Amino acid sequence: MSSILNDRSSAKRTKLYEGKAKIIYEGPEPGTVIQYFKDDATAFNAQKKDTIAGKGVLNNRISSHIMTKLEGIGIPTHFLRSINMREQLVRKVDVIPLEVVVRNIAAGSLCKRLGVAEGTYLSKPLVEFYYKDDKLGDPLISEDHILTFGWADPYEMEEIVSMAWRVNDYMNGLFSGIGLKLVDFKLEFGRMWGEYDELYLLLADEISPDNCRLWDAKTDEKLDKDRFRHDLGDLVDGYQTIASRLGLIPEGGLMSADGKLNEEVAAQLEDIENDLAKKRKLRAVKKTPKQRNKV
Ligand SMILES: Nc1ncnc2c1ncn2[C@@H]1O[C@H](COP(=O)(O)OP(=O)(O)OP(=O)(O)O)[C@@H](O)[C@H]1O
Ligand SMILES: [Mg+2]
Repeated sequence: MSSILNDRSSAKRTKLYEGKAKIIYEGPEPGTVIQYFKDDATAFNAQKKDTIAGKGVLNNRISSHIMTKLEGIGIPTHFLRSINMREQLVRKVDVIPLEVVVRNIAAGSLCKRLGVAEGTYLSKPLVEFYYKDDKLGDPLISEDHILTFGWADPYEMEEIVSMAWRVNDYMNGLFSGIGLKLVDFKLEFGRMWGEYDELYLLLADEISPDNCRLWDAKTDEKLDKDRFRHDLGDLVDGYQTIASRLGLIPEGGLMSADGKLNEEVAAQLEDIENDLAKKRKLRAVKKTPKQRNKV
């Protein structure tokens, strides 16, 4: 499955955490980690699982592109650079145990919980918080729960909500321009401390069709992970449609006719992304973070 290059590059790395969709390795400099995007897909709190060739490469590419664009409009993110087709270098943060969901159109658990019809346009974007704990099934919580249990303080909450709105505004424009409806998405944020102990709040984790709902604007065809959750069609086909409309993959797509990843084409994606990243203003990684930054 993985190429020699990937085996070699991962072999000398210390694995810090393995999640359902990604592996976190120690990075080359203090204060950095490497995110490796796996081909594993899970749904319904990992009750449904599969391995889908090409998913990791597409998510890595889509996420690094969106994070780069968000940096460009002044939203601080953990993304530093793309390393290869499955890996990216990011700033290491203390992840805040919240899943911040922004909804524009009703779908998924909102419909189940409140009996709203799927596809209903919400009168304004709805921001929800879930407590990030797989054992508890990531329960819906209110801001008061967050403050009561000290998962984030009022200042951080203000920043988080304001960033979530700005990400939503930007992504609504980005996707509507390529004929997609941004139904909803999930964000994670993390804390990083600077040299003088100043606190930075960064957008972390990934922004990809694994955690965004994206529908074709004309047909309402679902192009995101709901294809896997509800067996609606080939997952990679949907992700490729999104990536190619964003101009991130060649027209022929990433997959060969035999359903395998075209490694040669996939390897070129890194160069395209890094060219884009180079155009951004350089920001140094803090070399002396406090050791309290744990994964
Ligand atoms: N910059 C970062 N520094 C440290 N950890 C990060 C960073 N970005 C994301 N993470 C964390 O790394 C993990 C990524 O793995 P993955 O998305 O596969 O996890 P998961 O199976 O969804 O589990 P979890 O419930 O922990 O999110 C997540 O726990 C995520 O919060
Ligand atoms: Mg995750």
